[in-house]
Amino acid sequence: MISFTLNGRTVETDATATTRLLDFLREELGLIGTKEGCGEGECGACSVFVNSLLQNSCLIPIGSISGAHIQTIEGIMDTEQFKILDEYYSLAGGVQCGYCIPGMVMASAALLSNNPQPTEEEIREGISGNLCRCTGYNMIVDAINLAAKKGDGIWQKK
Ligand code: FES
Ligand code: FES
Repeated sequence: MISFTLNGRTVETDATATTRLLDFLREELGLIGTKEGCGEGECGACSVFVNSLLQNSCLIPIGSISGAHIQTIEGIMDTEQFKILDEYYSLAGGVQCGYCIPGMVMASAALLSNNPQPTEEEIREGISGNLCRCTGYNMIVDAINLAAKKGDGIWQKK
């Protein structure tokens, strides 16, 4: 039995230990906000937090996360951080087809939680593991920059 915490709730499963966390989230639990892009750890579409660290769920066998705390995009949607990012991704025109956006938002939240006032270079570095096939990078950088500036006080360094 594999047991872990997902978005604040305990999950127990008899699934094969080699099952990818990405597949388990999408196919077993219906959490389809986490996307599959490359399936090889290169695009960030499948980003989740594992014990508060940004990770690619396509590379994580669920047998390796026993006891861990996992958060998906669905698990952060009620937070002030998500609401600010949602607002400024929209205002800056950062969402085109939208496929990369859950992963981008997870990466944005991870970046701003560690560095509440990043430079443009630091923002680009922070999302460097996330690919946008619509090439909306400039708008995404603008969105993160605005979220950093307008989200005064909510991006406290942990
Ligand atoms: Fe996981 Fe691309 S699908 S990094
Ligand atoms: Fe389409 Fe990024 S908005 S892949």
